[in-house]
Amino acid sequence: MGELLKINQKIRSFNKKISIEGDKSLSIRWALLASQANGKSRAYKLLKSEDVLSTLNCLRKLGIVVKFKNNYCEIIGKGLNGFNYKNNLTLNAGNSGTLSRLILGLLVHSKKKIKIIGDKSLSKRDFSRIIQPLKKFGARFYSKQKNKLPLSIEGSKATNPINYFENKGSAQCKSSVMLAALNTTGTTIIKAKKSRNHTELLFQYLKIPITIKKTKNFDYIKVKGKKKISSFDYTIPADISSSAFFIVLTTLSKNSKLLIKNVNINPSRTGILEILKKMGIKILIKNKKNYKGEKIADIFVKSSKKIKAINCPPNLNSSAIDEFLIIFLVAARANGISYFRELSELNQKESPRLKWGSKILNMMGVKTELTNHSIKIYGDPNLKIKKIIKIKEYLKDHRVFMMSVIAALTCGGQWQINDSDSIKTSFPSFLKIIKELNKK
Ligand code: S3P
Repeated sequence: MGELLKINQKIRSFNKKISIEGDKSLSIRWALLASQANGKSRAYKLLKSEDVLSTLNCLRKLGIVVKFKNNYCEIIGKGLNGFNYKNNLTLNAGNSGTLSRLILGLLVHSKKKIKIIGDKSLSKRDFSRIIQPLKKFGARFYSKQKNKLPLSIEGSKATNPINYFENKGSAQCKSSVMLAALNTTGTTIIKAKKSRNHTELLFQYLKIPITIKKTKNFDYIKVKGKKKISSFDYTIPADISSSAFFIVLTTLSKNSKLLIKNVNINPSRTGILEILKKMGIKILIKNKKNYKGEKIADIFVKSSKKIKAINCPPNLNSSAIDEFLIIFLVAARANGISYFRELSELNQKESPRLKWGSKILNMMGVKTELTNHSIKIYGDPNLKIKKIIKIKEYLKDHRVFMMSVIAALTCGGQWQINDSDSIKTSFPSFLKIIKELNKK
């Protein structure tokens, strides 16, 4: 829902420095791991978006104390398996696939049945991908609508470590199994198609027994469970997936420059930078630092005069998985036909994004050829939008909304876009930053 957003003008030229809110994946992982540690952990610059607040609320319902102080959030962990809660507990995961799937991993030992519910968008998403491996630990699942939310989990006392092959490139599935392994006696062995590795890096930083062997396409991960975790403080770096919208806004605007401070540039997340580079867009990475296993840097970007079409190598898909909508917009302004393939996972997100990306480009007058796993985009560097574009649906998909706003601000035309509330899930200050950039 939210106000209908009307945009009738491109953004002015800008030359500014901005800060972007904290990374969503890291914020959720910090909270879940802090709940399993012993004692007080603090997070500075935690993302205060709905997905993260839903995570904190679920933890509170599981008996964990969560407090907001001046400039940090504090969680008092009760150690592994230390949740304490009433019968017939219901946890609301809101819009968050990450929260719902990861928390199920922590609940494979739950003493009582727990129900997980979510909003309209999350209730349409597939949970078989996570039920299958977690069943192998001994947990039982109940749902009226097969493999969808609402879903109840009943833990097992005698959990066994498992062997698991994660073949979709899903960091949520991999991380959920790693969290289940954390509470399980013995060694869980995972073969995982490449995906973001924040959970692995946090496990290493927390000295949880983990070994990782990397090959070209897969990571082989072993986690030995039952090691006590000490409490830990963490400063969450800026989210590259949120930054991506402003990188593209700058690229596609005239005479503009932007510096984004302290962005997480973990290589398992920087596919967008590699893809834009292949499209001829110049991006500078400055002040590189290491932070507790993660990489952080400032990103500098300028308007691009010439954008090349791309035949996107599928080995970049996992590291750009949340950025394809905004990348499709760049392709719409490139010189030539771009091709993206092996992307069926995009239709498993908050909305079927491959389909929606194509639909919005078509509304803009851009020709596409779509299958259920690929898209060809016929780019036009001089794209002019002639029609009024109305996006009426309430998809509850933040990234579809933000892509539409960036399209309106860079390609012109008259736009009416619904679903502005969706930004609250990942990037509440998105429209405020746009206002700042548009000021004289
Ligand atoms: C996430 C993993 C990805 C990504 C999502 C966040 C995570 O989902 O799209 O926004 O934090 O683990 P999948 O695991 O479904 O690919």
